[in-house]
Amino acid sequence: MTEKVKCAVIGLGMGANHARGYVNNPRAELVGVVDLDPARSDRVKEFAPDARFFTQYEEMLQELNPDVVSVALPNFLHEPVSVAILESGAHVMCEKPLAHTLESALRIQHASAATGKTVFMNLSQRFAEKNMQAHALYEAGAFGEIYHGYTEWTRRDWMPGFGGWFGQKAMSGGGPLIDLGVHKIDIVLWLMGGPKPVTVSGTTHYQRGVPRAKAQGAAFDVEDFASGFIRFDNGASLVFEISWAGYQQGHSQESMRLIGTQGGLETAAGEKGNEYLYNHEVNGVPLAARIIPDGHGRKSTDVLVDAILDETPFPASLEDGLRMQVILEALYRSAERGAEINVKEEFPEAYGLL
Ligand SMILES: NC(=O)c1ccc[n+]([C@@H]2O[C@H](COP(=O)([O-])OP(=O)(O)OC[C@H]3O[C@@H](n4cnc5c(N)ncnc54)[C@H](O)[C@@H]3O)[C@@H](O)[C@H]2O)c1
Repeated sequence: MTEKVKCAVIGLGMGANHARGYVNNPRAELVGVVDLDPARSDRVKEFAPDARFFTQYEEMLQELNPDVVSVALPNFLHEPVSVAILESGAHVMCEKPLAHTLESALRIQHASAATGKTVFMNLSQRFAEKNMQAHALYEAGAFGEIYHGYTEWTRRDWMPGFGGWFGQKAMSGGGPLIDLGVHKIDIVLWLMGGPKPVTVSGTTHYQRGVPRAKAQGAAFDVEDFASGFIRFDNGASLVFEISWAGYQQGHSQESMRLIGTQGGLETAAGEKGNEYLYNHEVNGVPLAARIIPDGHGRKSTDVLVDAILDETPFPASLEDGLRMQVILEALYRSAERGAEINVKEEFPEAYGLL
């Protein structure tokens, strides 16, 4: 391994943040940047003048031979591009979700196993300060065993533009569930210690987006609201609500509540739901301690560079991405079928990998 990690980025929406993270990290060197859109590349050139810019990722991989490549592309491109990166001998930093379908996610898993290269998942909310603090409490055993979770991220009316990849299932894999739900469900799983999903029941609704897009003649075939119930192999359960649109008071509402054998965690009332309360009890006296963000959150790209150079753990793995993909696939299938899905029976190969 070189002294500095040679990094590259493919896709410059969210990927521009990865590029900035690598540029600002003294242990990293941003060597290559790829996007089809020259305007997006130009914006990154302003803060990364030393990187080389490409429109074809195959060319970048061949010419620069990077150590790790961020994949921040539309979901359906995660698989072909990640597989090409792994086969070139580099690690992948994959934006969430791992892929747009479980089949596609499994092909990434196979390529990682075959090449021995790692897929790091940018499950970015794991790096948010309040969640890092909550996880430190979990690791200290503060909650005991968390046996139930509730999580929501609901928006009143905040959809991606009609006609783009986000609103077309063939490219995105789904709507708000695969977009926002990934973050929220993932944090609960992380704080529960990563249990396996056993049965999954989901609903999806298409009331707000599809009719409006149709009236405009624009392509849009994903849900705008989803809810669900998941049982895990350790007996724990999870309920969630996720939406891009739905009548409610707030513009965007995020909350979580976890209940454990020794304590619990809930979003504190407040403007952005940015703080948690840790609910517990000392000598029978109920206590609620506020978890206040203290400025020590970390950028996922910094954690990644340390993980590669120092061989320290990275908190979001391919297995985490795959577990989420199984849950998403099961939820969409359940919603379509109008019935609960038994995960082990329905997806035996993926279940065996969790
Ligand atoms: N972690 C987070 O909080 C977070 C936030 C936003 C998006 N994301 C994820 O990041 C990914 C990208 O989302 P986005 O919002 O940046 O999308 P986007 O559409 O804004 O950006 C995608 C970029 O990829 C480029 N592109 C498309 N095909 C390409 C190709 N073949 N070769 C090179 N470049 C190509 C496009 O020109 C575009 O600039 C998605 O998987 C999304 O879920 C994660």
